[in-house]
Amino acid sequence: MESFGGFHSLRRRKTRPLVVTFCALWSFALVSVAALLLLLRARAGARSRSSKFRSTEASQQTRHQSIESPDGDVIDCVHISEQPAFDHPFMKDHKIQTRPNYHPEGLYDENKVSTAGEGRRNKVTQLWHLSGKCPENTIPIRRTKKDDVLRASSVRKYGRKKHRTIPQPKSADPDLVNQGGHQHAIAYVNGGKYYGAKATINVWEPKIQRPNEFSLSQLWILGGSFGEDLNSIEAGWQVSPELYGDNNTRLFSYWTSDAYQATGCYNLLCSGFIQINNEIAMGASISPVSAYRNAQYDVSILVWKDPNEGHWWMQFGDDYVLGYWPSFLFSYLGDSASMVEWGGEVVNTEPSGEHTSTQMGSGHFPEEGFGKASYFRNLQIVDGSNNLRAPKAIGTFTERSGCYDVQTGSNADWGHYFYYGGPGRNPKCA
Ligand SMILES: *[C@@H]1O[C@H](CO)[C@@H](O)[C@H](O)[C@H]1NC(C)=O
Repeated sequence: MESFGGFHSLRRRKTRPLVVTFCALWSFALVSVAALLLLLRARAGARSRSSKFRSTEASQQTRHQSIESPDGDVIDCVHISEQPAFDHPFMKDHKIQTRPNYHPEGLYDENKVSTAGEGRRNKVTQLWHLSGKCPENTIPIRRTKKDDVLRASSVRKYGRKKHRTIPQPKSADPDLVNQGGHQHAIAYVNGGKYYGAKATINVWEPKIQRPNEFSLSQLWILGGSFGEDLNSIEAGWQVSPELYGDNNTRLFSYWTSDAYQATGCYNLLCSGFIQINNEIAMGASISPVSAYRNAQYDVSILVWKDPNEGHWWMQFGDDYVLGYWPSFLFSYLGDSASMVEWGGEVVNTEPSGEHTSTQMGSGHFPEEGFGKASYFRNLQIVDGSNNLRAPKAIGTFTERSGCYDVQTGSNADWGHYFYYGGPGRNPKCA
């Protein structure tokens, strides 16, 4: 609308010789026409944008601004108050918390550490940022494609984990080991009260042999028992052709309050997680990923319980507070977690009786070390006084160390860390 300023000053020029006036009239006419055209275009643009926002009755996919990511994803910018979390009956009168009341401070906050460990560390972000941004008061939601749903065995189950995930490490009951083909290489602490956990996770793109297998690297915040009432909050990165239709490494979160039976799902695929951040999309690709003997990328994940409201918050990297799981979703986690785990999980479907060659981490064993094996570093837990601190008495667990293994260590820069992962099928993994 600034162009109108020009009009007024033209009109005010009254006393001029005839030729000048004639010229002035001509330019006035030309400028008017140009301005009118611009105005009409701007109006039309504004109208089509605002009608997209207003027509809430229209199909989900047309009412928001949408961003096409180079990986084929479509990211919809959905108004924060229209996110799927509010489909939950308990959520009707929920007032969105726009920020946590409390943020635990860590031992290794990135601005305090200029160079951690042996490697170059580089900024990790999401691929769709190359194509645009979501405006304030919206959240980016990865659009579910029809094929995503068809690939999953049933629409109702879509987005759920199919099996219980982790056998209790201490009681490595043979019946629980390798349940549903899930295999792990993890570090864990238990026996205390935990109010959160943090780690910086090396990012890779492991190869998946079969489309219905997956490979993930994450932390688990756990309460209850593994049988029926396990409460779990999980976050990290995963490669899952079944869930996403490709082999990209994606940021994900997951929750359940009944051991993966009736509740819980990935990302924002069902109501539960309330997102407040307009820059990071759950389920969207992370970029770049690390390469063997080459540049290494890692990203920190922090999950913590707000001491006032009791909600569990999640942060990605140093800058992005993503949102929270309301405390009423959980029973045990309504109070605190009794166990924290960090590490990798794969599904091995054992096609034709052989162990799958689906990789965990980088696909290389821990002994290979930095730049070759995948790591978690600066493991921390949130204690009863809401401080991040180094965990005590870290245990490790893996079902078959010849397939995927884990090795812990500690030093000044990396605090408690571990290397984990492996190639799956190989002579040591019969
Ligand atoms: C994913 O990777 C597997 C091999 O690891 C390949 O066979 C498959 O075609 C890939 N899928 C896509 C969608 O790129």
